[in-house]
Amino acid sequence: MPRVRWCCTPSSGCWRESPSASCGSAGSGRPISSAVTVFVCTSCGEADIPGPSAQTGGQRLWIELAARTTNNPDIEVQAVDCLAVCENAVVVAFATPEKWTYVVGGASAAGAAGNGDADDVIAVAAAIGASVHGIPAMKDRPPFFRAGVIARVPPLPQTADT
Ligand code: FES
Repeated sequence: MPRVRWCCTPSSGCWRESPSASCGSAGSGRPISSAVTVFVCTSCGEADIPGPSAQTGGQRLWIELAARTTNNPDIEVQAVDCLAVCENAVVVAFATPEKWTYVVGGASAAGAAGNGDADDVIAVAAAIGASVHGIPAMKDRPPFFRAGVIARVPPLPQTADT
């Protein structure tokens, strides 16, 4: 089964090509999707109040993000139970088909003191979506993102006929 490869240049960004093609010009490969899914660990973070109605920091951040992106077709927010880096609460991940995935810890939850990092999570999700390869420019990386990146994972190899 033939695979594709990534071609990248500073001026054109990255695009996909078949292994037999040259990396001569951008746009000759298959278009790349830009919708970003933001996974939020809802098990992360301290509960706000004791008792059965308590919400974790991750739950509060997820609720805030979901409310702010309801009408945004470019960002989907999904709750997950755990992203397995629990000591870095609150952990979020930015995933986009055919782009790099970021796992980021240390996001602040929404609470009495404000909206936490919700605005910055949305801003960096938009920057990832706008990036051809899913790697946001340094100027588009808010403080929580710069300080909290745990991992960056490349997109899965794709076959030429998918
Ligand atoms: S509890 Fe949030 S990453 Fe595990």
